[in-house]
Amino acid sequence: MLSDIHDTVRQNLESFGHKHTHLMAAFCLYGAYTVGSTALGWSWRFFKTFLRPSKNLFKRYHGGYVVVTGATNGLGLGYARKFAEKGFNLVLVARNSEKLNTVKSELLRSHPDIDIKLIQFDFDKPYTEEGYASLKESLDMMGDISVLVNNVGAIGTNLFEDMPIDIITRVMNVNLIPQVVMTKFLLPRLLRRSKEEGKRTAILSVSSAAHYIRLPKSTMYSCTKSFNKTFSDVIGKEYGKYIDVMVTTPGPVISNMVNEKAPFVITPEAHARWVLSDLGYNTETFGHYRHWMSTTMFRLPLLGTQFIKMRDRYLNDKSKSSN
Ligand SMILES: NC(=O)c1ccc[n+]([C@@H]2O[C@H](COP(=O)([O-])OP(=O)(O)OC[C@H]3O[C@@H](n4cnc5c(N)ncnc54)[C@H](OP(=O)(O)O)[C@@H]3O)[C@@H](O)[C@H]2O)c1
Repeated sequence: MLSDIHDTVRQNLESFGHKHTHLMAAFCLYGAYTVGSTALGWSWRFFKTFLRPSKNLFKRYHGGYVVVTGATNGLGLGYARKFAEKGFNLVLVARNSEKLNTVKSELLRSHPDIDIKLIQFDFDKPYTEEGYASLKESLDMMGDISVLVNNVGAIGTNLFEDMPIDIITRVMNVNLIPQVVMTKFLLPRLLRRSKEEGKRTAILSVSSAAHYIRLPKSTMYSCTKSFNKTFSDVIGKEYGKYIDVMVTTPGPVISNMVNEKAPFVITPEAHARWVLSDLGYNTETFGHYRHWMSTTMFRLPLLGTQFIKMRDRYLNDKSKSSN
């Protein structure tokens, strides 16, 4: 019985192949193209991730000041440390003056030759000219800005119906407005530096793997992180000729948002090191190879469901240990 079916299918396929030789050739070509481009894509990814040497960023951007928002903890502090190691001066922006001063002292202890300026500013508000005037004035007074790191961000972890409205608006204020407004404030200067002074500049923005793996219990976070990704992609298309515009979509990094028990977690310093090794080459990066691999894997439908379950367990444990 089975062999009859097998014979019939084979005969039908053969006669289809004889009748439609062009179509069969097209199928074969498409198959070869798919296999070839996937193999090439993976080889290129492997080369970029593990073998390509980093650019000398200090030379590429001719030193200058790196502005980092949300610089007192987590990823922002990781970026500040790595840029300081490379010899850049820093402008650190965050909400808490005390923490800003502590970070400044810590960085100056290990890098006494760099200059560090501080801007205390709370991004948790909608944009108004008056509300943002002090930030604009402070930035206008800063010297030669070469790199903007749009890092500041906030998260809320709850089902949407249980998410308090003030957390919803906080996530929107802190994740959306600063990246747009900081870019708007500094873009003319970055462009001028690049076009008129011949010194290249950069805008590095922090999105999240939540852009790809849309996370339940973090609705606003996932949506705002997709905005960050799209915003950077489009700004890159507009200004990539003059400015290195890159967005990063990391997975879990140890910070106030995520503790060391999260799956696939890495340190902020490791994250910053991997991201900076792609700056000047890429328009987007996961940063650490572990986040490239985990995000690629968890974007597959069945594995994605497993990741959501794993994250739920992590969130439950985290809330139990914080109670
Ligand atoms: N951690 C992760 O696993 C992860 C993964 C992917 C993407 N990200 C992204 O990475 C970025 C940084 O996150 P993180 O995990 O490093 O967060 P974090 O540890 O909470 O640090 C946030 C930083 O932003 C500052 N900040 C927070 N609210 C602020 C406000 N309203 N105004 C001014 N400064 C404010 C904080 O300083 P003060 O509170 O002292 O002001 C701190 O310096 C975010 O964009 C986040 O979406 C994080």
